[in-house]
Amino acid sequence: MKLIGPFTQLITMRGLSRKGALGNDEMEVVVDGGILLNNGVIVEVGSFEALRPKATETEHIATSQVAMPGWIDCHTHMLWGGSRAGDFEKRNSGVSYQQILEEGGGIFDTVRKTTLASDKELKNAFEVRLTKQLRNGVTTVEVKSGYGLTGPSEMRMLSLINEVAQQSSQTIVPTFLGAHVCPIDYTKEEYLTFLSSEIFPKIVQQSLSKRVDIFIEQEAFRPDLAYEYLQKAKKSGFDLTVHANQFSSGGAFLAAKLGAKSADHLEHIEADEIKALADSDTVAVALPGASLGLGAPMTPARALLDAGAALAIATDWNPGSAPMGNLLAQASIIAASQKLSTAEVFAAVTSRAANALGLTGYGQLEVGYRADIVTFPTGDYRDILYHMGGMTAAGVYLAGQKVK
Ligand code: NIG
Ligand code: FE
Repeated sequence: MKLIGPFTQLITMRGLSRKGALGNDEMEVVVDGGILLNNGVIVEVGSFEALRPKATETEHIATSQVAMPGWIDCHTHMLWGGSRAGDFEKRNSGVSYQQILEEGGGIFDTVRKTTLASDKELKNAFEVRLTKQLRNGVTTVEVKSGYGLTGPSEMRMLSLINEVAQQSSQTIVPTFLGAHVCPIDYTKEEYLTFLSSEIFPKIVQQSLSKRVDIFIEQEAFRPDLAYEYLQKAKKSGFDLTVHANQFSSGGAFLAAKLGAKSADHLEHIEADEIKALADSDTVAVALPGASLGLGAPMTPARALLDAGAALAIATDWNPGSAPMGNLLAQASIIAASQKLSTAEVFAAVTSRAANALGLTGYGQLEVGYRADIVTFPTGDYRDILYHMGGMTAAGVYLAGQKVK
């Protein structure tokens, strides 16, 4: 039985409501706290001094630190080949993201570069990105396919994500995003039918992913086509998540109607769709990195929370719209621009992000939960967002093992 502490402040993130606005006074802060764990799982959380007699081993924290659950990045595209620096420059000269895509660049460009890269190159680049996330306190990462767009190359992406996941003690959640955009040699209907009839069974059989995502947008897949596809995915036993309302309406309604785990992006969302999400169990996922990368509006996180929706925040780390990959900086930026409480932001990257992924036993410092922990070099939790990404993690634990 190992005891870690004392932490000047221990933020547990337990006991909070799954949805809606949160006040900072609702967040449990244990002063001079300790975490007792066994075999990587939390046994008790409370006063360090009170827990001391129960410990057979103590990891003593000598400096002033805040501890909280490891952060969960619930939406990324971290496996890719090549760069899209040219797109960034082009967009900044006034060409839109959609226009670049319609001309056969954008996502299609990354598809070509990913297809040309060797397995080793792709895995290496992915591992470097995972290490950056880990150093920043991100202990769980969702990763999508979607830069293959043929049966074999989408299966290859999922296999590579799973191979890296098996070697890693970070938790990696793979998601099938074959329906990212439509390859030129198919109609949209044909391509979605191909994915659902030919590829879903293979993914299930090889246990490569439990989640299906689709990019709902005129330039990608219209809501009516997406609806049919997602229904088939649900029937095949997949959890659903969607790229919704990045540029136009439609996706959020679908997500709520189909009981998707999450609806992500939502930069362009009206009151009726906000209400639909608030009335559902679907988590609204804001992706500030994509807003920053495209110079687009931030997701109306304040309005979503005030309406009663659940909010998570993720990086969307990808080579096109969101090349930054820094969850802490992005969470701080959306906090300032949307006027979010610290409790709302912390929940959005821990407990509520776990809900977006349908993960149990993650995202809280609570009995029976996995001891994924991040600590920051301060005695005041308010410093964490205040430095806007400038204060990096002091310590990171994966299932109780110190990795930083
Ligand atoms: O979430 N919008 C669609 N997909 C990604 C971007 C992928 C890319 O541009 O490579 C996103 O923003
Ligand atoms: Fe995305």
